[in-house]
Amino acid sequence: ERKYRIAVIPGDGIGGEVIPVGQRTAEAVAAKHGFAIEWQDFDWSCRRYAETGRMMPEDGIAQVKGFDAIYLGAVGWPGVPDHVSLWGLLIPLRRELDLYANVRPVRLLRGMTSPLAGRGPEDIDFIVVRENVEGEYSEVGGRLYDGTDHEMVSQLSIFTRRGTDRILDYAFELAAKRKRKHVTSATKSNGIVHTMPYWDERFAAASARHPDIATAQYHIDILTAHFVQHPDWFDVVVASNLFGDILSDLGPAVAGSIGIAPAANLNPTREFPSLFEPVHGSAPDIAGQDVANPIAAVWTAAMMLDHLGEATAAAELEAAIETALEDPATRTRDLGGTADTVACGEAVLKALA
Ligand code: NAD
Ligand code: IPM
Ligand code: MN
Repeated sequence: ERKYRIAVIPGDGIGGEVIPVGQRTAEAVAAKHGFAIEWQDFDWSCRRYAETGRMMPEDGIAQVKGFDAIYLGAVGWPGVPDHVSLWGLLIPLRRELDLYANVRPVRLLRGMTSPLAGRGPEDIDFIVVRENVEGEYSEVGGRLYDGTDHEMVSQLSIFTRRGTDRILDYAFELAAKRKRKHVTSATKSNGIVHTMPYWDERFAAASARHPDIATAQYHIDILTAHFVQHPDWFDVVVASNLFGDILSDLGPAVAGSIGIAPAANLNPTREFPSLFEPVHGSAPDIAGQDVANPIAAVWTAAMMLDHLGEATAAAELEAAIETALEDPATRTRDLGGTADTVACGEAVLKALA
């Protein structure tokens, strides 16, 4: 029997509520397709930080390196500054495992209503490909001269040729597998931000390597407007770390809710395990109430199965999500419904059965 070993890090807040739902649905689809999943739990979180002074053990990365994949909820909780929790767990995982492609699909699911008037599923179906280890999220910089008149903070944006080329190529190769075969670049090359003319130069070079893929590029400011007014223009959207972060919250909003948005942090060379976590965070405002939408976590689990080579099972799980959500009674509050987290998960299980 095929078996996959998955490291599970529920993390903080609603992570601990939605990840178990994702696990149950993944197990159900695995049973139907003749493979098994062996989970190993890791309590790495802000709670652990409060108890031990560390988000994860010193050898944490080494502990998860041997797994087939990592399934993570969310990181961050009031009381622990975000820069401490994130630099202590999520960012080192992304960097040390070289998870350079953050793939974030946006799709208006059947039966769901977009906040954009008159838009249907055929209008909203694109994927944000976000550079995930460099760019604006660099480690170079920090605070200086604290408490003096000269107090300052700075951060260098770093775009390496290798890092830029590989994310652009990833986006073009992904587009080649899709129907529309189109890549949009998110840029800001009108002269002010030095890194972006370079990004454009590399985008042009990547485009020349993939002559069958059509392209477009927009400055990030107007691109956010186009996401709202013309979501149908987009197929694959490739963006730097920060631009991609912003676009991948906006995209799900036009498709209904951040509560359904999945993400795959991929190491495309497969040298290290890839990490799968929803786009959303720990949602302290709703944590502990059993109202969080588990669909992002379930869809994320489907992306994980697909990455593990179980494409049929992944597609079936995705289809079950869509079937379950068609019934308004199984939608959570963020989608205008009244179902709780567990009930929404049960509906997916029922659709699978
Ligand atoms: P958030 O995504 O946690 O929440 C934003 C809003 O969306 C909140 O109103 C929340 O209730 C709602 N929301 C999010 N997920 C939902 C779901 N599944 N169902 C229903 N509603 C949902 O973002 P934030 O408030 O900016 O950040 C909260 C904490 O999470 C911070 O510590 C932040 O650093 C962290 N965070 C972590 C990740 C991650 O681990 N990948 C991502 C984003 C934010
Ligand atoms: C995300 C989150 C993270 C990011 C934060 C929590 C560091 O917003 O995964 O989108 O900015 O990458
Ligand atoms: Mn984000």
